[in-house]
Amino acid sequence: MKKQLAVLVSAALQNDLSVSEVTALLEKPKYEHLGDIAFPCFTLAKKYKKAPTIIAEELAQHIQADFIKEVKVEGAYINFYLQQLPIAQQIVTQILAEQNNYGTRNANNATIAIDFSSPNIAKPFSMGHLRSTVIGNALANIAEKMGYHAERINHLGDWGTQFGKLIVAYKLWGNKEAIEANPIAELLKIYVRFHDEAEHNEALNDEARQAFKSLEDGDEEALALWQWFREASLQEFQSIYKLLGVGFDSYNGEAFYNDKMERIVTELEEKQLLVESDGAMVVPLEDMPPCLIKKNDGATLYATRDLAAAVYRQETYKPAKVFYVVGNEQSLHFKQLFTVLKKMGYHWADNYQHIPFGLMLIGGKKMSTRKGKVVLLADVLKEAMDAALRNIEEKNPTLANKEQVAKEVGIGAVIFNDLKNDRMHDIDFDIEQMVTFEGETGPYVQYTYARIQTLLKKGAYIAEEAPITYLDETAWPLIKQLQDFSDYIAKAFNDADPSQIAKYSLQLARSFNKYYAQTKMLSGDDLQQARLAVVNCVAIVLQEGLRLLGIASPEEM
Ligand code: ARG
Repeated sequence: MKKQLAVLVSAALQNDLSVSEVTALLEKPKYEHLGDIAFPCFTLAKKYKKAPTIIAEELAQHIQADFIKEVKVEGAYINFYLQQLPIAQQIVTQILAEQNNYGTRNANNATIAIDFSSPNIAKPFSMGHLRSTVIGNALANIAEKMGYHAERINHLGDWGTQFGKLIVAYKLWGNKEAIEANPIAELLKIYVRFHDEAEHNEALNDEARQAFKSLEDGDEEALALWQWFREASLQEFQSIYKLLGVGFDSYNGEAFYNDKMERIVTELEEKQLLVESDGAMVVPLEDMPPCLIKKNDGATLYATRDLAAAVYRQETYKPAKVFYVVGNEQSLHFKQLFTVLKKMGYHWADNYQHIPFGLMLIGGKKMSTRKGKVVLLADVLKEAMDAALRNIEEKNPTLANKEQVAKEVGIGAVIFNDLKNDRMHDIDFDIEQMVTFEGETGPYVQYTYARIQTLLKKGAYIAEEAPITYLDETAWPLIKQLQDFSDYIAKAFNDADPSQIAKYSLQLARSFNKYYAQTKMLSGDDLQQARLAVVNCVAIVLQEGLRLLGIASPEEM
């Protein structure tokens, strides 16, 4: 509709503004009574050397169309009132025909690679990794909705000097059975012990360096241990991914780039970017600290592996865009990474983007390790599911599949709580609050969806017979919101901001609940099916919005 209107306005302006220029100017009036779409004439004043109010008056007279009910001028604005019924007919017909493909763009043959989650082997999955997982997954879903092919990459932290320490610690105090039963907690335990003991036993650190060296040299025993630590940790991470409903196309972590770094170092040398500094090799940068490529003992670093990873990804996926969904505290690292790539002459680095996010707080405090005791993410997720179950027991004790629904609601609550705000904001993790069915929560949106399903059943809704020959006045805001869905998807994608979808879903759910409160849905007359068709469209779009965020929508709750 916006597009059609933009065509009319542009024509009335004799193409002084192009259709896309007009589209960019069109806005939503602040108040409902001011119509459905507004065109402000301020920017035209200079061009025509006339007062914008006069331009508005003159221009308004040249715009007419079937879908426009009324054109009114308010100061410098032209306000358009649309024909509600034909537009509703068009939107409802389209949604019923396309179902969950409503808002999906055609495939564009371009790939977007998303590096997200990326936890560290033998370390607990942190709240930061949870945020990265949830945001990255939503961005991948949104990219696919926009017609891209998404490559989901888990850049595991599976290499580094810590593995030397772990190998030494395991040989001294490791218990195979305990690690098999509880890999991450046990590996962490011996890792912490290593640090404690190394404080008064310097020899341990030397041993660890030795062990890492033999690992890098391909020593079989060291490699077998490393492989085992990696597999066992990954298995534990998999159970979290399963709960969250997240999958990856690649688990190529840092170790994968071991044999791909020499080439980068050589290239840096050839391009005369590498400089020696205290025995280490660095790339000096303007306005920021140098990028460390090799330590004085010749060991490569996190940044070296990321350089190799970037070049590998470019060659393998030829991506249109690459997102690194990593906490804000690594901003400098990514600035250095992209700057070095550009110094190397890789212009494609312009398409590489760090997607940072704020902290996850519990009761206002950063959550990671409490007094050396680890807060395990699996426990936190379980707590959310338990809280959701208590809520269901209270609200709907006879519900079938309670456990499954509680899982979808508890996990949905955690994800939505993360995604509903601008990602740069720190978020508070208050389980009781986020699982309630009211307010700005995932369960509120899920509950609205389930409520519509119940309503459709009660009203014996028949999809095939959905004649929209009538529209309640109060349903118009719903229709307009349904029409806006694809704009929000595009905005979410362009700004790498899933909160656009979360906010949109909340608004749509609220509008439905308002409509439902004001309307006798099951009127038993000819209009019942028309009303149900509209709310069925709302349900379809709510479900798709939740899916984009990575959240399930139970049919009943
Ligand atoms: N493993 C890292 C960490 O936990 C995150 C890796 C992010 N991705 C990357 N390509 N550097 O801090």
